[in-house]
Amino acid sequence: MKERKGIVLAGGTGSRLHPVTLGISKQLMPVYDKPMIYYPLSVLMLAGIRETAIITTPHDQAQFKQLLGDGRQWGISLTYITQPSPDGLAQAYTLTEAFLDGAPSGMVLGDNIFFGHGLPELLARAGAKREGGTVFGYRVSDPERYGVVDYDASGAVRELIEKPAKPPSNYAVTGVYFLDGSAPEKARSLKPSARGELEIIALLECFRKESSLNVEIMGRGYAWLDTGTHGSLLDAGNFVRTLQLRQGTQVGCPEEIAYEQGWIDAKELAARADIFGKSDYGAYLRGLLDVPV
Ligand code: TTP
Repeated sequence: MKERKGIVLAGGTGSRLHPVTLGISKQLMPVYDKPMIYYPLSVLMLAGIRETAIITTPHDQAQFKQLLGDGRQWGISLTYITQPSPDGLAQAYTLTEAFLDGAPSGMVLGDNIFFGHGLPELLARAGAKREGGTVFGYRVSDPERYGVVDYDASGAVRELIEKPAKPPSNYAVTGVYFLDGSAPEKARSLKPSARGELEIIALLECFRKESSLNVEIMGRGYAWLDTGTHGSLLDAGNFVRTLQLRQGTQVGCPEEIAYEQGWIDAKELAARADIFGKSDYGAYLRGLLDVPV
């Protein structure tokens, strides 16, 4: 069985963040002290995924390459794929068909942040399932903005509905998707929706209709934040800052995850710390090399 591969979907127009995103990709903007894309990439690394494709717009690709390189610094491999126009989340699977080469995948939206105790285990469980798909339902106060889970009286999933005017539940489908190797073929069969996009919910519905979609609950002990508006971006930054200052630990630090996973050694971590000079981030990495408390 092929190893699961990763996808970070980091294209899009970011129009809700205009004018800022006229000059820079949303996913390169800071969430407190690090670029937004560090957070979804960290999620894939926590899930144990070492080979990942970064999907960007054609004009932003060079900056992502400058920031992330080939991934060697974190003991992973990064491949860059462009999305010529933002035709929807499900297009990620047709764009990565050759890259995936039949392997199962884990995809995270480039503007989504996940945090919570037990997250690695939650992701590992989803990643261990080789057939079908796993996505997560998360309770939100404004489900009409998302793909929503419609449950029947027995608690079974009846349907997933994209941005319903009258949401059948408060459970939104989060932006992390574990799908088997059939995802690209299924994505190819989709037709654009009324808003002209290949919808991820339509792709997930293909799995559900063949009874191979597992919708797990991501409970209230987890944080799922998206950063698509000025307010939510600020909120996410404050969330990360609050946790980091209180605990003295980092949220979404790829070096730390790579070191914990045994993908880089102490010497490689020290070399990374040197790059960051006097920044708090550099000091944090140097601290990881001290004997842990
Ligand atoms: P959205 O937030 O739905 O779209 P957007 O980022 O273009 O922003 P806006 O609505 O303000 O114009 O996208 C969710 C994530 O998926 C985000 O990280 C961008 C990415 N994305 C793509 O990479 N390609 C796409 O075709 C779409 C629709 C989104």
